[in-house]
Amino acid sequence: MFQLTRSVTWQALKQLQAQTADDRIRDYFTADPQRFERMSLRVGGLFLDYSKHHISDAVLDKLLELADHSALVQRRAQMFSGDIINVTENRPVLHTALRNLGDDPLMVDGKDVMPEIHRTREQIRRFSEEVRSGEWKGYNGQRIRDVVNIGIGGSDLGPNMACRALLKHRHPEINFHFVSNVDGTHIQKVLSRLDPATTLFIVSTKTFSTQETLLNAKTARRWFLENAGEEADVGAHFVAASTNRKAAMEFGIREENVFEFWAWVGGRYSMWSSIGLPIALSIGFDGFMDMLEGAHEMDQHFLNAPNSANMPVLMALIGIWYINFQGAETHAIVPYDQALHQLPAFLQQLDMESNGKSVDIFGHPVDYKTGPIVWGQTGSNGQHAFFQLLHQGTRYVPIDFIASLKPEPGVEDHHFALLTNMLAQANAFMEGSQESSRLDPYSCPGNRPSSTLLLDELTPRNLGALIALYEHKVFVQGVIWNINSFDQWGVQLGKRIAGEISERIDEQSQDFDGSTQGLLKLVREHFTARQTGDDGATPTEAPAKKATQGKKKA
Ligand code: F6P
Repeated sequence: MFQLTRSVTWQALKQLQAQTADDRIRDYFTADPQRFERMSLRVGGLFLDYSKHHISDAVLDKLLELADHSALVQRRAQMFSGDIINVTENRPVLHTALRNLGDDPLMVDGKDVMPEIHRTREQIRRFSEEVRSGEWKGYNGQRIRDVVNIGIGGSDLGPNMACRALLKHRHPEINFHFVSNVDGTHIQKVLSRLDPATTLFIVSTKTFSTQETLLNAKTARRWFLENAGEEADVGAHFVAASTNRKAAMEFGIREENVFEFWAWVGGRYSMWSSIGLPIALSIGFDGFMDMLEGAHEMDQHFLNAPNSANMPVLMALIGIWYINFQGAETHAIVPYDQALHQLPAFLQQLDMESNGKSVDIFGHPVDYKTGPIVWGQTGSNGQHAFFQLLHQGTRYVPIDFIASLKPEPGVEDHHFALLTNMLAQANAFMEGSQESSRLDPYSCPGNRPSSTLLLDELTPRNLGALIALYEHKVFVQGVIWNINSFDQWGVQLGKRIAGEISERIDEQSQDFDGSTQGLLKLVREHFTARQTGDDGATPTEAPAKKATQGKKKA
């Protein structure tokens, strides 16, 4: 059995870590004035500067050897061609097929899936054009003015992040809302501002079985029926993005308004599928296709570029260097772009739900670190929140700075301040304090690494490329760690126990630990009757924003 940590390359990297431990990053630049030119890379509208890393030429060469000696070439070919690489769920992993704009057949279980991908894309085009043009009418003949996406995890984070990132491309007459938390105040707050006659709900759920989404969808439907339409009108105000057509239709969604996708699309990789419906409604189908094209362009780069000039591979190897050889436990994502403020949350699920694993693809426990804790917040806000720890704390946190170069019209001065702050921070993390001695409390040790990723402009195409870049970075790390990045068994346990607890809210069950029993007793004092969410006790009192013409005229 292959032992990653016993490989010659891994051992050589451990030696290099010791040999370079006292290196100063800034000295790498002194020794090689061309370092920036050599350690930066452009792919389409994205530019990566990876020169401010604690990585000597020898370390980089050895990291590339790690990739060369891994199963990357084979596993990548398997993923793109639809082989079953999600071995525990016995599924292919084909989010790349969703942005494949060609017609070459792609066989899954002996069937070419490209026709149904094209068919669903056409269904999305038609629907988004109907809603955006006003052709799609609500129960009393009005156009849609608010779209509410109800979903959680990958059925929320991707479309939510993209709609926010591309807000300047949004349809001027339609507002978009995202409800995800089972906390009833989330949906209550959204519904209180809406007119049921002009609201469209998208129930986004791959399985159509996620408790939070189903409860929110039922509450939305109850609110609609109490404030406006009748059962027959649900179809004009509710559509679904799901793999479970049957359950969607049982909910009351018309068959033609179920936007299907497939089991071989992972939730956290699904924004290119029907789960991306809010994006197409917001920025238009053409914009959605631009996003797919940007991702496809990154796919082609990932497939064809040599490892030494492959952006996802390089980012993956840099991460492995810090995680497995420098002891970094976390990785910070700091977009200097308010439009990308939801990117850290999206990347958290993408990375941590993919590589938060401790057994390899054979089920054997690994003896090395795997996925890091991914976190972050926009700059310049982070400078006033957690940068102190990053500058002078005891922890080693590699940072991805992300920004777009082109300013929005009218705020060029702000954008200049934003970008100069980012460059200053990246420099300060690397250089540290120059003048003061390292003993005084004001000095910053420096030598703290970062990458800088610049988008020419925050466009649908460049956002698509950016997301695909991180998808493939996560994939490469998973391949080198020999783990399955595409299942998520760890989230099933909590779901099961939640069901058991909610079923026993009324009884003193000895099945739970003393803490849970004690806490349940406190909770029980506030819930005299069993709260199943179907007894009307969930929040439906949210009044419609205004009674348009009330219920349909008799
Ligand atoms: O977090 C577990 C998970 O299954 C995610 O992978 C998924 O994105 C989310 O829950 C929502 O699942 P669904 O889209 O089936 O409602």
